[in-house]
Amino acid sequence: MQVIIFDDAQQVAQSAAEWVAELINKKSNPVLGLATGSTPISLYQELVNKHKAGELSFSNTTSFNLDEYLGIDETNEQSYRHFMNVNLFNHVDIDKSKTFVPTCNNGENPREQGLAYEDKISQAGGVDLQILGIGANGHIGFNEPTSSLSSRTRIKTLTQQTIDDNSRMFAADEFQPTLAMTMGIATILDARYVLLMATGKNKAKAVKDMVTGALSAACPASALQLHENAIILLDKEAASELEDQDYYIWANKQNLKINREFGLYHNY
Ligand code: PGA
Repeated sequence: MQVIIFDDAQQVAQSAAEWVAELINKKSNPVLGLATGSTPISLYQELVNKHKAGELSFSNTTSFNLDEYLGIDETNEQSYRHFMNVNLFNHVDIDKSKTFVPTCNNGENPREQGLAYEDKISQAGGVDLQILGIGANGHIGFNEPTSSLSSRTRIKTLTQQTIDDNSRMFAADEFQPTLAMTMGIATILDARYVLLMATGKNKAKAVKDMVTGALSAACPASALQLHENAIILLDKEAASELEDQDYYIWANKQNLKINREFGLYHNY
């Protein structure tokens, strides 16, 4: 894992945007894995700004989102498709027919839908860069604690903690889904690079469990310890429970030198 600690959340977003931009500018048909939630919103703003400044075109990009709620369709403002439209897709030149979200509508077979999503990712050549947030309970996507580390795209039941954490997005009288389709942990680990963003004190314990805890389904993000190219971007608060911070700062200085010479994706 490459753990990089920044002063604040804005710097985390700027760094994440550099990773995305370098991939898109370097590869002819880049495939992005995208995430929803509060954390990546500032990343998407950075990407929109780069696009508007003429520095970044998404015209050749394909994207796959991590997850989608069950029981609300894409016209619903709570859907993650809607989130992606308003936060990114509507403001850049991406071809929306090449943007995918894992759905399972009424009457559709979840197993078939999950397999079809996995197939679509394979047909696109696999995910080059998967953006991730982390839940306060250590989830990635909606892979809640006790998710199989070998899981693939499927339906998951959300934990009460996740439902409570996300309730801030829903009005008191609004339907809040308790089920979702989500890429599995094995799906996420297939990406060539994963870039996890975490900001704020409420993520500090999950970050510690992910980086230095046991590899365990109790903290699904700890599965990233198995990934060859996991980049963890943190603000100081999210990093606050990590020991060995001096090491991460020192190692990052060395990485910056390598990145300058060989590019961010020198291990591609
Ligand atoms: P958040 O969610 O960015 O809204 O904190 C992250 C997650 O649950 O993955």
